[in-house]
Amino acid sequence: MNEVIGYEVSDGIAILGINNPPVNAVGASVRQGLSNALHRALGDDAVQAILILGEGRTFPAGSDIREFGKPPADPWLPGLCNAVEASPKIVVAALHGTALGGGFELALATHYRVAAEGARIGFPEVTLGILPGAGGTQRAPRLAGAGDALDLMLSGRAISVTSAEAAPYIDKVVQGDLRQQALSYVQELLAQGAGTRPTRDIRKGFADPIAYQKAVALRKEVVAKRPEIAPQEIVKCVEAAELLPFDMGLTVERAAFDDCVQSDQAASLRHVFFAERRAPKFPEISGQGASPVSQVGIVGGGVAGRGLALACLEVDLEVVLIERNSAALRESLGKINAYLDRLVAQGRLRGQARDDRGMRLHGKTDFVALSEADVVIEAVADDLKEKQQVFFQLDAVVREGAVLVSTTMRHDLHQIAGKTGDPGWVLGLDIGTPAHLQQVAEVMVPEGVEPAAVAALVALLRRLGKLPVRAEGRRAHIGRAVLGAYRHAADMLVEDGSTPYLVDEAMRAFGMKFGPFEQIDREGLREDRTLRRALADNGTLQGRQVSILDRLCEAGRFGRSVGQGYYLYDGQSPSGRADPEVIALIREERESRGIAARGFSEEEIQRHCLAAMVNEGARLLRLGVARCPSDIDVVMVHGYGFPRWRGGPMKAADLVGLWAVQRDIEQFAQQDSVFWSPEPVFDTLFKAGQGFDALNG
Ligand code: 3HC
Repeated sequence: MNEVIGYEVSDGIAILGINNPPVNAVGASVRQGLSNALHRALGDDAVQAILILGEGRTFPAGSDIREFGKPPADPWLPGLCNAVEASPKIVVAALHGTALGGGFELALATHYRVAAEGARIGFPEVTLGILPGAGGTQRAPRLAGAGDALDLMLSGRAISVTSAEAAPYIDKVVQGDLRQQALSYVQELLAQGAGTRPTRDIRKGFADPIAYQKAVALRKEVVAKRPEIAPQEIVKCVEAAELLPFDMGLTVERAAFDDCVQSDQAASLRHVFFAERRAPKFPEISGQGASPVSQVGIVGGGVAGRGLALACLEVDLEVVLIERNSAALRESLGKINAYLDRLVAQGRLRGQARDDRGMRLHGKTDFVALSEADVVIEAVADDLKEKQQVFFQLDAVVREGAVLVSTTMRHDLHQIAGKTGDPGWVLGLDIGTPAHLQQVAEVMVPEGVEPAAVAALVALLRRLGKLPVRAEGRRAHIGRAVLGAYRHAADMLVEDGSTPYLVDEAMRAFGMKFGPFEQIDREGLREDRTLRRALADNGTLQGRQVSILDRLCEAGRFGRSVGQGYYLYDGQSPSGRADPEVIALIREERESRGIAARGFSEEEIQRHCLAAMVNEGARLLRLGVARCPSDIDVVMVHGYGFPRWRGGPMKAADLVGLWAVQRDIEQFAQQDSVFWSPEPVFDTLFKAGQGFDALNG
């Protein structure tokens, strides 16, 4: 018997305990072990029923994702599920933790399901670019109908077993000791003479064929507009479930699964899954627990400070917000309170929780109020003198071991930290605005910082629900540097003959959430100009100058907030339309530089933009700012709208081929050899037959 599967017989019930920490993923050893245990139980006359459960924290949370993309090892999960379902002795699954993907499919193949009250079930496959491939697309709709089953599979959500949505899949929800409760349940079933109940024979979900087909048609229309392949395949499989006999449906599912799992999209999404888990593992944290944070100080009540305050209040932290005077404080607190009230009015926050947040927010104008804070985040205007003054004042009041954090985008952290008696407790943070809505946070770690300071800030960010990514250095930003390079490439394309509208369209078609110019319009052209200047100052953006943005600013076209930027916003087109004035201004600028306009295809635009991002990413790796390519990818996916299904720019480069990207950069260098200078790592990796993934170690 395989050691990952425990086997024990208790009162005629064989208990198959899956023991493959941390999440009991159904890898080859689990499949083999379960298969062996099933045969043993079936051959044992003393066994009347079989109970499958997960040891430790969960029932299996899915197949082992690390096996995807490798040759499949026998026995396969679909075959194992079929064998479980065909068992002549009743098989019961006892679920706890997160019974997801292949784990949930295994449960659906058993004859009865009992679940602990806190358990969650779901099909997260779609988030990995695949579909439930062990009968899930055929069994779930038999139990729940097409609409509910599709919603679960297409969303990838995990739902509580106590929810109405989960009811068709779960026979009994229990409290207390799951093992004991599950054994009692099996005994009850035996006492009642309950027989096997293969899900393949259940037709409850097909009771209303018209409703079934309508539900399929509706989702088919929705997914057809999405660039991802897996959702479309999921809908086809669920459609087949009703139209075809069960075994043929399984064949359709297998073919669709094979197509998806081998696709670039699935490879990219798997990459992001592991990248998200790699990113928060900062070397400073290994083996050391972080000191708990209960009070956070925030200096500055502008947009950035308010967002940080809201994020902290959301997770039960005490917040001390410092403003420079009572009027500014009143205004800032007023805006925070108004936001909380809006949440209540929209039904997104209960009155009691809103009051509780209000009680935990303490507005002050005196830095002394920060004496108990565990972490203090400075969010004042990005002016060196002002920031230095804040840190000088903080040094006088904060307790020993308090972590001090600057949100500077432009200045050297050492110049700021130098104003304190112990610079080893000063870190940088780039969380974007508004902070409470952001997913990713870059932690700037200068040399010589105390590991405990890093651990505390990372733990705080995890608690805030942010994905922390490490950026090493004093002026180190990953996302903003890559974004700057991307926007610079877009600028050059426009100056050389394209238009902001064509570039935006091409990048949306690539999968970016917004085109670069519509995004600048949203953020504000002045803000973007500040970013570009900061990047030019710290040596990130070098080479050819493009002044179109400056010219637009001179013309008062500051972006969406003023009704005009790259686009024109008015009652007729509130989301913006192309403006001939902008085209004329670009033409003038082009002519003044003696540039002969030429056209760029959608593909050329995409190649320029991707190459710029990747080359900048490679530069950040060379400088040691980014630890590994996958950190760059998660920052771009979570913070800057890069399509998750492309895996981030570095993964996208691996898939295109580094040689192709390098060749593009060399070709673009004919226009500007400074900006378009290929990083040496392309050559190194290419000659070793590797991609960026080799640096993710
Ligand atoms: N395969 C392999 N490793 C897995 C895994 C899986 N299915 N799920 C989690 N892990 C690993 C993680 O990589 C991590 O490893 P690390 O410690 O080395 O970084 C470790 O388990 C713990 O995972 P988390 O840090 O994510 O732990 P959490 O407690 O935060 O979350 C979870 C637990 C909700 C189960 C989350 O891990 C998760 O969502 N896992 C993926 C679930 C999933 O996608 N299942 C479907 C797989 S595809 C499938 O089943 C195909 C089938 O239809 C044929």
